[in-house]
Amino acid sequence: MAADDDGKRLTTRRLNDMGLGFMSAGTLLAALELRLFDALSGGPRSLDEIASRLGVPKERAEKLITACAAIDLVIRDGAIVSNAADVERFLVRGKPTYFGDYLLHFAKGSYPLWGKVADFLKGGDLAGRGRYYATANDPKEARALTEAGYTGSQGTARVLARRFDFSRYRHLLDIGGGSAVYSIEACRRYPQLTATVLDFPNVCVVAREFIEKEGFTSRIRTVGCDFTADPFPSGPDVALLCGNIHAYDPATAHRVVKKAHDILPSGGAMIICDYMLNSERTGPPVAAFLSLAQAFQPGNGVVHSAKDFKEYLESAGFRVLKVEEFLEGSLGWAIASKP
Ligand SMILES: C[S@@+](CC[C@H](N)C(=O)[O-])C[C@H]1O[C@@H](n2cnc3c(N)ncnc32)[C@H](O)[C@@H]1O
Repeated sequence: MAADDDGKRLTTRRLNDMGLGFMSAGTLLAALELRLFDALSGGPRSLDEIASRLGVPKERAEKLITACAAIDLVIRDGAIVSNAADVERFLVRGKPTYFGDYLLHFAKGSYPLWGKVADFLKGGDLAGRGRYYATANDPKEARALTEAGYTGSQGTARVLARRFDFSRYRHLLDIGGGSAVYSIEACRRYPQLTATVLDFPNVCVVAREFIEKEGFTSRIRTVGCDFTADPFPSGPDVALLCGNIHAYDPATAHRVVKKAHDILPSGGAMIICDYMLNSERTGPPVAAFLSLAQAFQPGNGVVHSAKDFKEYLESAGFRVLKVEEFLEGSLGWAIASKP
């Protein structure tokens, strides 16, 4: 019997699950696109009801239900089907905790490319200045990214506003703030706080809609710019760099962190929150996959490690207070203060 070092029987199970993992993703994305989880929200439904709500023949609806039941997205009890608890909370449209549009948006751009990773790795570098430039130049693409980003980041933005004490600060600089969701959630929790969101002009158009809808026009402003090249406004006493520095190389990361350092007052704070590899560069998986994905994005993006975050902050002149996991398995954050 073939066995590993601990004497456990070796099987193909783990490798099979990985090699065929694209089927799980395909099933989840199809269910989201067809609005299966919306149809099941609020109570169990029969197959007939599901088929008619999805607008697909019953036999095909049944195949989707079987696949979803196999990976615990839905619970099937005979002919009656309901959402799993996490699906009901996070993948039903209209709920404040919904983030399905983010998954769909993300998948639309990169899912087909994951079939060609080896080709990308063998090919030359992709021309271009980084994927955000192309997206931001096209108003429709910028809107799609920013709207998906709002639903994708709303939960983490609330967590950040809860975990970071903004009560000592008056003005947040939200660098590459996208939909402004982090500024909105921080300002919602801290009534003394105002914010400036820096992003490309086409993104700022959409951010202003969210800011207005959430009632923060008097406290959050947007400034259209390229944060890698344009100067930062003075005035903020806390800076946030969230969800975008993985699109840039270490030299650019150093430059952006240094620019933030230079406009902050003594006692000001800087937060970096993004996909983060551990210092040994062995994971976590989502950050490592995103790191690999930079090979098929234009530009020289890298997913930075905990050690890198610390180094960018210290070499800019900050005192690093902590670098740790922020969201289990993917995001990390670093907090630093300016002496
Ligand atoms: C993944 S989104 C993150 C948005 C927001 N911080 C969040 O976490 O929800 C990345 C954002 O960074 C912006 N961005 C990337 N590079 C930029 C640059 N050079 N100048 C201005 N904005 C940039 C993008 O336009 C996009 O809105």
